Amino acid sequence: MTTTTNATETHRGAPQGEPLLAATDIVAGYLPGVDILGGCNLVLHPGELVGIIGPNGAGKSTLLKALFGLVPVRSGTVTLGGEDITNHRADRLVKRGVGFVPQTNNVFPSLTIEENLQMGIFQDPKQFGRRFEFVTDIFPALAERRRQRAGSLSGGERQMVAMARALMMDPSVLLLDEPSAGLSPVRQDEAFLRTRKINKAGVSIVIVEQNARRCLQICNRAYVLDQGRNAYSGPGRELMNDPKVIELYLGTLATDVEAADKAHPEA
Ligand SMILES: Nc1ncnc2c1ncn2[C@@H]1O[C@H](COP(=O)(O)OP(=O)(O)O)[C@@H](O)[C@H]1O
Ligand SMILES: [Mg+2]
Repeated sequence: MTTTTNATETHRGAPQGEPLLAATDIVAGYLPGVDILGGCNLVLHPGELVGIIGPNGAGKSTLLKALFGLVPVRSGTVTLGGEDITNHRADRLVKRGVGFVPQTNNVFPSLTIEENLQMGIFQDPKQFGRRFEFVTDIFPALAERRRQRAGSLSGGERQMVAMARALMMDPSVLLLDEPSAGLSPVRQDEAFLRTRKINKAGVSIVIVEQNARRCLQICNRAYVLDQGRNAYSGPGRELMNDPKVIELYLGTLATDVEAADKAHPEA
């Protein structure tokens, strides 16, 4: 079992050395007096692809937003390359190399693909050409369709534009909130492969996912969040095969149906 009890257990399987991004004992929430996160911990080391999974409402998106200065952190610290960035504003974090792709409303539908990518680098427009080359090297489809309006794209294509927009500022850390949400199974696989591709191109990634199994398949490590706290952590494949994690967070409908049939064979 892999319950989180101490520092080593909290970040099971994490590499040695200084993390690129670290969240320590984060308490955060939206409304006064209501804490959604009750002391969350996460580290992301250079080159890693780290997942956050857990039930609906566990606080996954809230943790991502807390890292990106969009939810006030009431106690605890966030550091980037060892420097304190707790409660730094999002635009400042973008300049420092943190990218964030929210789950929804992450493209400007009335703008073309190219204009969306320009929005991604409005803080440093001189770099547009160089960065456009980089992102279209990863996603060639974007170059071919640069004049197409983002609003006319499929959900999967929009997600690609949103990721590319965040990559325009050459981030060292990318925070992704459920890139596979609302997509068909085939498109979901594409979203996960796209995430891996970005990671392989040298960007360290924290990915929040409802689709826990697929997420664990592509991640180096993952954290299971439950009710605003760390519940488990470890290498993706280990968590995927951990009976406790399967029982609590990965239970498939098929095994549930099987169990129900055994309990009430007459039903
Ligand atoms: N903007 C908000 N204002 C107030 N409460 C919120 C807001 N967004 C989320 N919450 C609450 O925070 C909790 C965690 O939500 P969230 O982080 O979105 O969970 P997850 O992403 O794990 O599904 C939920 O109880 C949700 O109702
Ligand atoms: Mg969420």
